[in-house]
Amino acid sequence: MKLVIIGAQGTIGKKVSNLLSSEGHEIIQVGKKSGDYQADLAEPETLKTLFQKIGRFDSLAIAAGEVAFAPLEELTLEQWQDSFQNKLLGQIQAVQKALPYIRDGGSFTLIGGSLSNDPIKAGTAASTVNRALEGFVISASCDLPRGLRINLVSPTVLEESVKTYGNFFPGVIPVAGDRVAQAYKKSILGCQTGQIYFVT
Ligand SMILES: NC(=O)c1ccc[n+]([C@@H]2O[C@H](COP(=O)([O-])OP(=O)(O)OC[C@H]3O[C@@H](n4cnc5c(N)ncnc54)[C@H](OP(=O)(O)O)[C@@H]3O)[C@@H](O)[C@H]2O)c1
Repeated sequence: MKLVIIGAQGTIGKKVSNLLSSEGHEIIQVGKKSGDYQADLAEPETLKTLFQKIGRFDSLAIAAGEVAFAPLEELTLEQWQDSFQNKLLGQIQAVQKALPYIRDGGSFTLIGGSLSNDPIKAGTAASTVNRALEGFVISASCDLPRGLRINLVSPTVLEESVKTYGNFFPGVIPVAGDRVAQAYKKSILGCQTGQIYFVT
């Protein structure tokens, strides 16, 4: 299988890339700056160009997307717009721009996060975006043509990210990145669609 991973060099993306490449799948690594190809989720034209360059492929997995973290009374309109433009619309646009190139029966795997139903302080934008991604995946699964599938992986904080984000998640037990990669594998190689895979 030819698998395109956006965010392939990140904490989650590396785990997914290593797992699927170790099983013989061809991985096309995409990053904002790193990887075989570059694209910016916040710039839809770069996604269009990306898929034109890659051509036909079987599955798209996304492990990228930024959101603003700030107390609600301090979140600016610009931070809201950036959060929507990047993690939410960026992934939606990636799906839409990939449609002419993904083969029949292929799959899309998007990234959300457990803040959609397990909020933390200063995480309102992240919770909002992650919930919206759940709605998108549930509905898009009904609309996708040609046997295409779509699922969302929704992890809590990773063990590998505790040093960076751990203080924002008091009392939350982190998950191993390897478990998150298995959820991607289930979405990519399995048969389900319209599912939210919570990894907690
Ligand atoms: N880590 C966690 O604990 C955790 C838990 C739940 C959900 N998530 C979600 O998982 C996603 C990935 O998190 P992560 O911790 O793996 O991130 P990360 O380690 O910071 O890696 C991000 C990856 O995405 C790429 N990227 C960043 N901005 C991009 C953009 N605008 N367009 C295209 N690619 C971009 C980066 O490219 P370069 O390599 O070129 O820099 C990098 O490869 C995020 O949406 C995050 O909210 C993470």
